[in-house]
Amino acid sequence: RLKAFGKRNELAGEVRHVHVIGAGVMGGDIAAWCALKDFKVTLQDQSRDRIAQAQGRAHALFSRRIKPARLQRAAADRLIPDPDGHGITQADLVIEAITEDLEAKLALYARIEPRMKTGAILASNTSSLSLEALQAGLQQPQRLVGIHFFNPVAKMPLVEVVETPCTDPAARATALAFVGRLGKLPLPVLDAPGFLVNAVLAPYILEAMRCVDEGLSPETVDEAMKVFGMPMGPLELADTVGLDIVQAAGQQLAGDRAMPACLTSLLARRQLGRKSGRGFYVWKDGKPEKQA
Ligand code: NAI
Repeated sequence: RLKAFGKRNELAGEVRHVHVIGAGVMGGDIAAWCALKDFKVTLQDQSRDRIAQAQGRAHALFSRRIKPARLQRAAADRLIPDPDGHGITQADLVIEAITEDLEAKLALYARIEPRMKTGAILASNTSSLSLEALQAGLQQPQRLVGIHFFNPVAKMPLVEVVETPCTDPAARATALAFVGRLGKLPLPVLDAPGFLVNAVLAPYILEAMRCVDEGLSPETVDEAMKVFGMPMGPLELADTVGLDIVQAAGQQLAGDRAMPACLTSLLARRQLGRKSGRGFYVWKDGKPEKQA
């Protein structure tokens, strides 16, 4: 099987230009962080609004983290809005951070792979899909790695670098080095449901939701876990991640157990947490204002 994948060291190389597809909660902030750390970044999304919002968040990040205005402008110049995806043909690394939907990701890969330059690496930020399933549709499956950032990107130092048996070791090595150059801590993990962090975290968040189903208030559950020592309660964390994303990850890991009723009913009302302004909490200016 490996023979079909061609020369194995073709993918080694230094990353200079990163193309990010998906300018949502994660992709937008990944693009901003890469620009902050001196990479040239092109940012693509099917929605121009999402790109504009991501640029707004990026400028706020640059003004917090960089002092001279001249260098803030240089960082802003490195982040190039690219709604039509011209950057794909030039990038050394393409990071996909679109909606958590296998079919959508496969359809995107089929469109972009023929346009990627030889030796360029494709990385998915998926939190719950099998990397092997994502590789299945690629002409060069060995070029796909998982580079799984956590939310919020600017604050979370850990990044999981995910491989399957067919991932090219050179692609993995380039991904690990790239994450290091971002000033983050790369954690090499194998392709498995939830990788490492979410395999531990998802049952914790789902149990917290089941406590809400049993009648405890979200605030009570969150306060208890904060007193226990967690920096943020599990329901505030779920709202921050996005309840649709939590459900997608939870379904991968929950086996036959049904999703908590409170999660299902919030999703039925499209209350997705911080990104939609309402979930377990009402959100204002990126902060939970009160319990919903
Ligand atoms: P999101 O819903 O905030 O953003 C997704 C973006 O992708 C949207 O702006 C949408 O317009 C765009 N998009 C969808 N299909 C597209 C296409 N074909 N071409 C171009 N743009 C397209 O989603 P979020 O939360 O940023 O998640 C993105 C990925 O990151 C998912 O795979 C998710 O599992 C993963 N992830 C999410 C985390 C979180 O805390 N939200 C944490 C770690 C990973």
